[in-house]
Amino acid sequence: MEFDFVELSEKDRYRLLCSFVGPRPIALVTTVDEHNGYNAAPMSFFNVFSHDPPLLIIGMQTRPDGTAKDTVANIKRTGEFVAHMVDMSIAQEMIVTSINFPSHFDEIEFAGLTSAPSIKVAAPRIKESPCAMECRVSQILDYGRRTIVIGEVVHMYVRDECLDEQGHYVRPDIYQPIARLHADNYIVSDRQFVLKKPAELLKYEVVGDYAGAHSAKNAGGEHS
Ligand SMILES: Cc1cc2nc3c(=O)[nH]c(=O)nc-3n(C[C@H](O)[C@H](O)[C@H](O)COP(=O)(O)O)c2cc1C
Repeated sequence: MEFDFVELSEKDRYRLLCSFVGPRPIALVTTVDEHNGYNAAPMSFFNVFSHDPPLLIIGMQTRPDGTAKDTVANIKRTGEFVAHMVDMSIAQEMIVTSINFPSHFDEIEFAGLTSAPSIKVAAPRIKESPCAMECRVSQILDYGRRTIVIGEVVHMYVRDECLDEQGHYVRPDIYQPIARLHADNYIVSDRQFVLKKPAELLKYEVVGDYAGAHSAKNAGGEHS
């Protein structure tokens, strides 16, 4: 099947893009409202796009009635947010925070999660998340109903057990984030495998890069 994206309805573009570009990681984003209340919502138009500078991107659209989601309004006002990774232990809580509650609701508390102070930003860290990235806004791009936030990571928390003792390599048997597939379908990263460049072809490589060697099990192939 072929799809002309210029002619396609917004709904169909959403359905196709979200069904095929996946799994998409989920950022559980916390922000602070104008009354210093806490807000949390999951966003799966999300990924990391650079490590130097360390940049995350989150894409958010307005609600169906055209009003800005709390997360967008809070980020635009404060210039700060915290992006948390989600694993199975907080999947249910994550879904609860996606409900479009009134603005003054503290979704963190309502979902049964615990907030803790962040180190460098006012938005709180969710204690139950294995990884939290404190961000300051680098740029905001508005495309009509869609706001794309580019955030610079200024501090990162990782639960101790997710890393080896030196804090270098992720433990893939412990850190297993979930991600969004199509519609209400999700996947957990509990079937990981190692894939290395064929050793006999490395002689053709002009310059090696950082791929590989990010987990204890995969260690050894630095700059492979
Ligand atoms: C797994 C998941 C991923 C989501 N990803 C996005 C997203 O990338 N962008 C977006 O605008 N809404 C996304 N949503 C919907 C928001 O979480 C939802 O609109 C939420 O009520 C917004 O809350 P807020 O008004 O407190 O910001 C997602 C929902 C779920 C369950």
